[in-house]
Amino acid sequence: MPQILDGNRIRDEIKSELKPRVAALAAQGRAPGLAVVLVGHNPASEIYVRNKIKSCQDLGIFSASLTPPESITTEELLALVRQLNVRPDIDGILVQLPLPKQVDTKRILLAVAPEKDVDGFHPCNVGNLVAALPGPRACTPAGIIELLRRYHIPIAGKRAVVVGRSDIVGKPVALLLLHEHATVTICHSKTPDLPAVCREADILVAAIGRACMITRDFIKPGAVVIDVGTNRVEDRDEAARIFRNSAERLAAFDKRGNLLVGDVNPLDAAELASFYTPVPGGVGPLTIAMLMVNTVASAEHRTGLC
Ligand code: GUN
Repeated sequence: MPQILDGNRIRDEIKSELKPRVAALAAQGRAPGLAVVLVGHNPASEIYVRNKIKSCQDLGIFSASLTPPESITTEELLALVRQLNVRPDIDGILVQLPLPKQVDTKRILLAVAPEKDVDGFHPCNVGNLVAALPGPRACTPAGIIELLRRYHIPIAGKRAVVVGRSDIVGKPVALLLLHEHATVTICHSKTPDLPAVCREADILVAAIGRACMITRDFIKPGAVVIDVGTNRVEDRDEAARIFRNSAERLAAFDKRGNLLVGDVNPLDAAELASFYTPVPGGVGPLTIAMLMVNTVASAEHRTGLC
């Protein structure tokens, strides 16, 4: 039986380690502060942002929530970011993505002060990542490395395959794995014979955003499978196919009208992997924990505590 990589447990561990650091900052007269900018009403983004703010509250981190309308222009959002850049009580700025299509996302990310960029998305911090220099790392990729580290899963010398080439997950996690001395392949929709490439992976990271696309023929027996996807299956027949008519899962579907699944078929991962991350409860909680880590680290730098 594979071991489940319990993201909730590791998140709690990380949060308890942060508490004394937050207390030390508070003792200096100022708790860390995170500004979260949520444009419009994307339902998934609303849930993520709510969880981020709740995590701040748990830790005693000050949070400012800014919720401009869906119709905001690039210039208006730039002005808002620039105000946050100069606010002394704000150590971290997070602009929740995706942004509405009229907004130039690259210009917005470039406007965030690099020292307040708790997402690690500013080109300066992407450069720091590429050069293996200190700086904030993107939260989901950093969370994946933290999960592997805390479960003592070796990375050096392993063959890692990352499926997905996004700026948020695929590219940065590939670089972090490379810095940990894995041999890394990044795959995407144009990769020929994707299952064969994935089957070479000792560590397989799925970050494609397609419900249960990674099935048994993609997984080498004994592989470590990291599932970054969060997809909602709303079609009962699809749920039945994914879960091979499991009465329990279909009862859950009937109750809620949908099921949350990752990019990996969980039954196939359970059968073949040595370790795997469940959805929910795997990578997701680590993303928020690493956002808290980045916010506290930013506050420490800005107050001269480290
Ligand atoms: N949207 C999905 N993931 C993320 C993330 O890690 N940061 C931000 N800002 N937006 C996201």
